[in-house]
Amino acid sequence: MTIHIGADPGDIAETVLMPGDPYRARWAAQTFLKDATLVNEVRGMLGYTGTWKGHRVTIQGSGMGMPSLSIYANELISTFGAQTLIRIGSCGAMQQSVQLRDVILAATATTLSTPSRGIMREINYAPCADWPLLHAAFHAAEGRDTRTHVGGIYSADVFYDERPDLTEQMTRHGILGVEMEAAELYTVAARHGRRALAVLTVSDHLLTGEALPSDQRETSFGDMVEIALEAAFA
Ligand code: ADE
Repeated sequence: MTIHIGADPGDIAETVLMPGDPYRARWAAQTFLKDATLVNEVRGMLGYTGTWKGHRVTIQGSGMGMPSLSIYANELISTFGAQTLIRIGSCGAMQQSVQLRDVILAATATTLSTPSRGIMREINYAPCADWPLLHAAFHAAEGRDTRTHVGGIYSADVFYDERPDLTEQMTRHGILGVEMEAAELYTVAARHGRRALAVLTVSDHLLTGEALPSDQRETSFGDMVEIALEAAFA
């Protein structure tokens, strides 16, 4: 048991999928895992452990933003021995070539700052995905109808950012989309020698202003969960 995860030792699998939304953790566990059991509900941040094709998997909500994700990633790694951590979440597109419902596999996560900034100080560390995991996710995605992109994303600290040129600068530098957690996940995983990846579904578009209606979110998010599971056990 940790401060934020009320599970017993052994309740958490070595492979952990991390959606930001705890209700999405419940939905993914009930939809994709066999014998899914609730292992955490501290602060309503639901976590479930079950099996997928015979492999043990935990799906644990991370909350929104890097400070929240950092708490869960650190506790999952240090106390529960998580080896593979895959963020499954939504993002906003930052390129015209990216459309709603597309999947983005985040090779890198650019950021202005993460909770790890205190350690990094003057270092502009480049958070990046575990390559074998990314490679496996790309192959898992290839067999599907889902349009998939591999490249850099931006992990923001501010959802309602009023800095006028930020999106323009990110777009100009080839960033595919924006979310709020991956950079810290990659940094914490690297520090502890663990594997990490972010598999993201495009839910809104910063250049066109489009957004996915809530009734269409679930089906699109299913592809992302399956890609993450296939990659984890490739
Ligand atoms: N997650 C999904 N859409 C997002 C956006 N537009 N900005 C930050 N995080 C997001």
